[in-house]
Amino acid sequence: MDVTDDFGPFDGRTWINCSHQGPLPRVAVEAAQDAVNMKITPHRMARSEVFTEVPLRLRETLGQLVGVHPDDIILGNSASYGLNVLANGVRWRDGDEILLVSEDFPATIFPWLPLRERGVRLRFIKPEGPRLDPTELESQITPATRLFCVTWVHSFTGYAIDETAIAQVCRRHNVMCVLNVSQGLGYRQMKPAEIGVDAISSCGFKWLCGPYGTGFCWIRPELRDTLVYTQGYWLANLTANDLRGDFAYEIRSDLGARAYDLFCTANFLNFMPWTKSVEFLLKCGIEKIEVHNHALASRLIDNVDRDRFEIHSPTGGPARSSIVVLRHRGEGQTKRCFEVLKDQAIDVSLRKGSLRASPHLYNTERDIDRLVDVLNAFGR
Ligand SMILES: Cc1ncc(COP(=O)(O)O)c(C=O)c1O
Repeated sequence: MDVTDDFGPFDGRTWINCSHQGPLPRVAVEAAQDAVNMKITPHRMARSEVFTEVPLRLRETLGQLVGVHPDDIILGNSASYGLNVLANGVRWRDGDEILLVSEDFPATIFPWLPLRERGVRLRFIKPEGPRLDPTELESQITPATRLFCVTWVHSFTGYAIDETAIAQVCRRHNVMCVLNVSQGLGYRQMKPAEIGVDAISSCGFKWLCGPYGTGFCWIRPELRDTLVYTQGYWLANLTANDLRGDFAYEIRSDLGARAYDLFCTANFLNFMPWTKSVEFLLKCGIEKIEVHNHALASRLIDNVDRDRFEIHSPTGGPARSSIVVLRHRGEGQTKRCFEVLKDQAIDVSLRKGSLRASPHLYNTERDIDRLVDVLNAFGR
């Protein structure tokens, strides 16, 4: 895969840090410019159809990405948004319990915290190994458990859970299964309706290469229909065209997922480019991107000096992702190493005391070799 001309320029830097921010492909930059032009000369926004076309096209693209009907996509601005829709929408009963995983990414935990005030108990599972085993989940479910929420690919460890087995455990016990898929979607196949989870939520600004402030969620329609509707939004119920004549101040009964969209759903500056980004990924092919990313991660794992660096993310098997987590064996050296990389114009993250490299479709073998060269020369 060679898409280097479709991204950048990167100011001469090597960005191996997609799990922090994914860059916009050029087609998305052009779409962002179109959105800016519309606002410079607002007569271009006078055609009221653009307010419906922009979200419609994004829904179609995201629906294709995760294999669900576009009408079932809820548009938001983050992973947190979708999880909050659920936290606020489920009809909780006193004594209900939510299971979470300790040390999960904060975005997967915080949406549920306010529910403690509403009589919902939160219980944290501490996995024995580096990722939660489905049997551990099963052993923790009680008759009070209503929902389980976990991150698909862990931001700090690079481990992916066995989403199919986890979903099966939840189904067996009639527990809602919710996944934060932010660190996997864009290079791993995720078909939530097929594997039987109840909801997924994702940000759009990492592996989906959208602008910051994008996200979406999918909630199984049968579950969505049971949620409390709390957020009356005029443009979900009316169009700007309706204002030209008489209209009713009434909530439509056929809103479906749109009832839960973030307000100002025709978010031109963000959604026009994001649509182009996801279309671009789909054109490249998610499976091909996974193979590409996998090869780059392997190149790093295979070539870094293991006498000096230990790998904390999985080095093989289905738990592997495009996130490689490594740490220098010397006391305090990992942080120094991070600084040296930055000075050498190579960007990775420092998370929980480890380096996190996360290559995506725009990265090349040369990028990985540059990273390996600096790592292997470090402290010599
Ligand atoms: C697993 C995971 N979820 C979500 C996010 C971002 O959260 P939000 O989109 O709610 O800001 C991150 C960012 O690092 C993440 O790693």
